[in-house]
Amino acid sequence: MRMLSTLALAAGLACAPLIAPTSVSSAYAADIQATGKSDKQALIADLIGRMTLDEKIGQLRLISIGPEMPQPQLIKEIAAGRVGGTFNSITQAENRPLQDAAVMQSRLKIPMFFAYDVVHGHRTVFPISLGLASSWDMGLVEKTARISAVEAAADGIDATFAPMVDISRDPRWGRTSEGFGEDPYLVSQCARASVKGFQGASPANADSLMAFVKHFALYGAVEGGRDYNTVDMSLQRMYQDYLPPYRAGLDAGAGGVMIALNSINGQPATSNRWLLHDLLRKEWGFKGVTVSDHGAIDELLRHGVASNGREAAKLAIEAGVDISMADTRYLEQLPTLVKSGAVPVALIDDAVREVLGAKYDMGLFADPFRRIGVAAQDPADVDAESRLHRAEAREAARKSIVLLENRNQTLPLRKSGKVAVIGPLTDAQIDILGSWSAAGKPRQSVSLLQGMRDALAGKGEVIYARGANVTDDARVVGYLNFLNWDSPEVVQDKRSPGEMIDEAVRTARDADAIVVAVGESRGMSHEASSRTSLSLPGSQEALLKALKTTGKPLVVVLMNGRPLTVNWEKDNADAMLETWYAGTEGGHAIADVLFGDENPSGKLPVSFPRSIGQIPTYYNHLRIGRPFTPGKPANYTSQYFEEESGPLYPFGYGLSYTTFSVSEIRLSSPKLARNGTINASVTVKNTGKYAGETVVQFYVQDVTASVVRPVKELKGFRKVLLAPGESRAIEFPVTEDTLKFYNARLEYVAEPGDFNLQIGLDSASVREARFTLE
Ligand code: NOJ
Repeated sequence: MRMLSTLALAAGLACAPLIAPTSVSSAYAADIQATGKSDKQALIADLIGRMTLDEKIGQLRLISIGPEMPQPQLIKEIAAGRVGGTFNSITQAENRPLQDAAVMQSRLKIPMFFAYDVVHGHRTVFPISLGLASSWDMGLVEKTARISAVEAAADGIDATFAPMVDISRDPRWGRTSEGFGEDPYLVSQCARASVKGFQGASPANADSLMAFVKHFALYGAVEGGRDYNTVDMSLQRMYQDYLPPYRAGLDAGAGGVMIALNSINGQPATSNRWLLHDLLRKEWGFKGVTVSDHGAIDELLRHGVASNGREAAKLAIEAGVDISMADTRYLEQLPTLVKSGAVPVALIDDAVREVLGAKYDMGLFADPFRRIGVAAQDPADVDAESRLHRAEAREAARKSIVLLENRNQTLPLRKSGKVAVIGPLTDAQIDILGSWSAAGKPRQSVSLLQGMRDALAGKGEVIYARGANVTDDARVVGYLNFLNWDSPEVVQDKRSPGEMIDEAVRTARDADAIVVAVGESRGMSHEASSRTSLSLPGSQEALLKALKTTGKPLVVVLMNGRPLTVNWEKDNADAMLETWYAGTEGGHAIADVLFGDENPSGKLPVSFPRSIGQIPTYYNHLRIGRPFTPGKPANYTSQYFEEESGPLYPFGYGLSYTTFSVSEIRLSSPKLARNGTINASVTVKNTGKYAGETVVQFYVQDVTASVVRPVKELKGFRKVLLAPGESRAIEFPVTEDTLKFYNARLEYVAEPGDFNLQIGLDSASVREARFTLE
């Protein structure tokens, strides 16, 4: 028999009917033993048949631990059958009394589920998703999600609000950091790998989490990059570019979908029956559960599509929102809506069926405590070092780093002499974790300063100066510290900017090389952190310019969650690394790259603009009648006349300490028959001195079609490791499917005619060959 948790006893549950949780769960388990889908359906149908209306509505209620209600009240609500699940509790000990209340005290003993935003790690924090995407290594993306699931499940968590697969083409949007970038193909691959990692062989496994793909849909396309804003988009663009990643995550088996906060073509996603019913359920055949985002049903009033709570609840349930997150509208309004006949009870039953189905799929009916375990086995210290996966975090971080510049082979640095380690993000254990860093503890993360000291220990010397604050703008600091963190995150050095810079310059003069970490504090690339500028704040630009005057080799280490307009840095740094927010082992991994223990192989999953005015700069834009051609300026072409056009760094770009050559494309045939396959291959050679990995990227352009098509679209990639002098033939199969797109009638078709294939090591420098689809 399971032991009652001490917390449950303390909460007075000892007076509850003495039915131990195991015997409760085995009541369901007996049904489940027989296995098979029909038993799931039978179990759910039986429960629905016995539930009161209030119990049904309770199952649709997801409570945020902490802000919404104190624990004693929450326990009472659960015992009364008025809560279906909670989120934001991160230990078994926290979740156990809640589950005890559900399976011991509530009338029907339906288990609760516990969710959390496990986005890029749990106790161990991996690089932010944009960093993981930079690895172009889907095995790695899957592995980091798997480890995150193992760690979170061991903390009593059943589900994660991840992966976040919103395509983002406007880096002003702070949540760019949470996603996998701008490209439908790459983001879809990441979505698939991530869901496979989180859910493992089954979301029912004790070390798996159910994945909730988010934010459905198009959240990354908010107007002007302003968070929570409007999306107005053609169906072609939606189907072609923005929807595929959600679909990929669901096809990989994700059990849940989180609904976006934005409206789509005039209808909020939360009240959008076309989106949640016609597209998601009917067209895509989704069988899982949907959850609103935080307070989104209530927000229907502010969107102006509901004039009161009653209308909001009605719109949401009719649209297909199963679970309401941190929102009381369902609880308050659905009972009377049903009793008055305004909402048929069948709609409530449909939503309850999905919630119970998800709980069944999480394995909770078979054992509600499968991830909570017994109190006696709770970890003595949930933050214990032994619970971290440091080696895997370091590996993931190494692979996520992108080398942007390396003049005169400044990198790798020698492990000797004196290195000046400077900058406001050098000693930044909080920022290196990035936003949504789940249960990660800053004190367990390795800053760049620490990573450099460890790498040079006994071989050389690190000298340090902070040099600048992230920003001197009091308004920005105030905003960042107002964000929902546990404590103020941006702590200002009280010295004057001049004093800090002088100290940094003195330090740099005494060194053989300067490594300077600059960028954004993590709150700057976060939810609700849209920016009007993508340059480094003035305090950091001034620091860089002062350091440049020393004439010492200047290595810029960028830490940020979105593309930045680093024009001066591009021209003046001797070397520059994009390290995003590299996670728990970030400092070690960056040092590994700086000293050549790792040859960088990351490639940008987003284009970097030259200026904010040039946004959007995504690579796969539609063709136009008067295109601007880089290197061939001409009047009356589509460009900005004050500065060069095209991205500062293109999608797919990233250097290595070695060099690679790519041969001309060989085509197995110039003609592709319907249902046939042709192969396009190139030979990639490592022409430099170091072993290294690169990503061979494969793009397609439809030369003439019935609608305007993009200049190119990524259709495949392969990451290869080559020894110096080694060559490898890389082959990409091309079938009719590779060439399909949504035509004006939204049919997914490949049209006959000519296509250009492009293969290269970034989206801008490619080999090209043409073939014909017959
Ligand atoms: C709001 C965010 O938009 C969403 O991504 C997150 O999952 C929920 N809050 C829950 O934390």
